Amino acid sequence: MQLFDVYPINDITIEKAAGSNVWDDKGNKYLDLYGGHAVISIGHTHPHYVQRLTEQLGKVGFYSNSIRIPLQKQLAEKLGKLSGKEDYQLFLCNSGAEANENALKLASFHNGKKKIIAFRKSFHGRTSLAVAATDNPKIVAPVNETDNVVFLPWQDEAALQAAFEQYEVSSVIIEGIQGVGGIQVAGTSFLKKIRSLCDQYNAVFIADSVQCGYGRSGKFFSHDHAGVNADIYTMAKGMGNGFPIGGIIIAPHIQPSYGLLGTTFGGNHLACAAALAVLEVMEKDNLVENAATVGNYLIEELKKIPQVKEVRGMGLMIGIELPESLAHVRKELLFKHRIFTGEAKPNVIRLLPSLALTKAHADEFLAAFKEEVEKA
Ligand SMILES: Cc1ncc(COP(=O)(O)O)c(C=O)c1O
Repeated sequence: MQLFDVYPINDITIEKAAGSNVWDDKGNKYLDLYGGHAVISIGHTHPHYVQRLTEQLGKVGFYSNSIRIPLQKQLAEKLGKLSGKEDYQLFLCNSGAEANENALKLASFHNGKKKIIAFRKSFHGRTSLAVAATDNPKIVAPVNETDNVVFLPWQDEAALQAAFEQYEVSSVIIEGIQGVGGIQVAGTSFLKKIRSLCDQYNAVFIADSVQCGYGRSGKFFSHDHAGVNADIYTMAKGMGNGFPIGGIIIAPHIQPSYGLLGTTFGGNHLACAAALAVLEVMEKDNLVENAATVGNYLIEELKKIPQVKEVRGMGLMIGIELPESLAHVRKELLFKHRIFTGEAKPNVIRLLPSLALTKAHADEFLAAFKEEVEKA
């Protein structure tokens, strides 16, 4: 059987990983500033993570949501404490798209309305509603097309106000920092405007925190930088450090009932053990603060490099915009310097490393990056 060929891949096979490094099958060592797409939050094969998952696997790996799973409660408590959203309610699922799908659906169940407001260049996943709220027609199949989603220009408060006046808005979904869209930070004023309009019109504010959340921005949720609370936060990537788990946290005024949401795999024992291990390491090693410190250092140093057009982002979610003529730098970093980075457009490099990245790692990257942009 052949694989269904949907990914353009780099010809590299990773066989071993530890912290912010990975090794290929030839023994070459790489610095990982991509984190497998913002997924590796506490570092590869962290000893506490490996131990907690291994122990759980030896006890019970899975049982359905028809029985008590105390690990889910422990996870909800820990997540409430670390995120500061202790009065929210947790629903667990398996991926980012699924988290957004559940959030959009729950919002509509809650207020009985249909229209979703999303923004230009947004990415919310590939399932039916999530992809319909994603501003990329290439990945929307005919069956996903719907009139229920309205796309507005990014950070246009007047357009937002007008949309609320025109439509019966069920929810507004926004990434605190657009990832696929090229690392665009949503400003405080815009997030506050969403909050006030959602309050005024009984709409649900959904903060897509799948990529920008879970400490990556230097606060638990990037929307926290604006001092704004959303009604639903969606999360996934960093939550399990590679173990597939997603979730939504839901403000107390949104009431649950049986049958509203459901899942087979969501919240299983192994997934909860992985997510608990992540939060335990994040707390013990102050990884949210580390993301702020090392991230700010990187941002400031990158801004000093004359060839860089713009540096965007917060904490360890950084976009480096280069002139088109330097679009090859990312490949040079990977194949010559053995440094993994991400891409938004060919000329926008995305850094999404582990939140445990050290200043020494940052310096290693900066030296290689400067060498490449200076010689071009
Ligand atoms: C902001 C955002 N939302 C949702 C998703 C979808 O997550 P998943 O691929 O886990 O379904 C992604 C994935 O890149 C994302 O960046």
